[in-house]
Amino acid sequence: MSQTPQHCPTPRELDDLELLTTGAYAPVTAFNEPGSVVTLTLPTGIADAATVELVDPEGLPLATYTPATGAVEALTHAQFGPFRRLHLTPAQVREQYAGRTVVPVTGPLSVADLDELAALGPVLLLALTGTGTPELSRVALVRATLLAAAELDDAAVVVVPLAAHDDADADHALGVAVVATYAGDDAVHALSGADADEVEYPENVAAVIDADQPAPADQGLVIFFTGLSGSGKSTLAQALMDKVLEQGLRTLTSLDGDVVRRNLSKGLSFSKEDRETNIRRIGWVAAEISRHGGLAVCSPIAPFDATRKEVRAMVDEAGGAFFLVHVATPVEECERRDRKGLYAKARAGEIPEFTGISSPYETPEDFSVRVDTTGRTIEDALGDVIDALAATGHLDLREA
Ligand code: ADX
Repeated sequence: MSQTPQHCPTPRELDDLELLTTGAYAPVTAFNEPGSVVTLTLPTGIADAATVELVDPEGLPLATYTPATGAVEALTHAQFGPFRRLHLTPAQVREQYAGRTVVPVTGPLSVADLDELAALGPVLLLALTGTGTPELSRVALVRATLLAAAELDDAAVVVVPLAAHDDADADHALGVAVVATYAGDDAVHALSGADADEVEYPENVAAVIDADQPAPADQGLVIFFTGLSGSGKSTLAQALMDKVLEQGLRTLTSLDGDVVRRNLSKGLSFSKEDRETNIRRIGWVAAEISRHGGLAVCSPIAPFDATRKEVRAMVDEAGGAFFLVHVATPVEECERRDRKGLYAKARAGEIPEFTGISSPYETPEDFSVRVDTTGRTIEDALGDVIDALAATGHLDLREA
């Protein structure tokens, strides 16, 4: 018998797993029930396995999954993560908080919401914080809810990772079912909400919102140059970085293709697989930098669209902004310049899988700005990048 394969589900699937195993999704009790949005997709290699062990990103086994039926059996519940202690099961809530009016909370509570809640007597605030829920990040929503709860005479807070599944009607129905499961025989109260223009938040709640959604100029930023070897990526990136340093307002990290290949990606080849690994590494580091509000300037070839999009998603998940510069200098011009003599070698068959000659470059369409350096000075081409960047509000180098 071969070993039970392991699989780490996506963040959305992990949220669903938690609600399936705690019984919060009743009557939905398994993944992939007909017509249900509560789905789990396995990689093709293990889709035929009799059972699969579902693990969290750190490899902790969470549940045993039976693909044929979609059934899950809990092994352990995730123990870490901010506010994990507030993740109670419906059974625990019944035991600890019976008799309270249950109020689902999906956004920061306003002054008007608090007035409405104060009239309800003891309440249980169910913070619905699953993956894909819009407004605030999940920690910020819990923090804002705890602060608001402290303003009330008798309010408890429980966190429910109710994820969004790109189907508003199905998600609404699931949400109603989950809240009903948590409430049992107790009353459920839906907040009436107010016009977005008129919302006033308690001061400490407003501070949580501001910290969670920084202004573009305070947000982490990844400027990602992509283009052929010799297109002018590194030169443009370097000139841009000089402006940032001269302005002196931000620190920055450079992740240049050639430089990364001498350290972080030392030893990787130019096969498709290794190039993807290289770009994912760059993306991972850049995303972490953006998580801390920093600025990362990347300039690898990054020839594959899907990998570039993965990087965008990583940065997005980390709360950073992603600015893609397509340096669109055509291959004829790059080859004519041939500063490093690599095109000549590639033509002579001395360098296999050379981008633009014997290995593909997938032209991006999701760029923030596209520049062709043919017949232009670097200053001039850089002007286009700087203008587009300034227009986003993330970084203004026009006077630098
Ligand atoms: S990527 O495809 O993985 O994004 P990366 O930007 O790190 O490429 O490295 C590209 C640099 O490696 C080029 O500027 C060039 O100097 C050098 N190089 C060596 N072999 C190749 C090759 N087969 N294809 C492209 N660039 C190569």
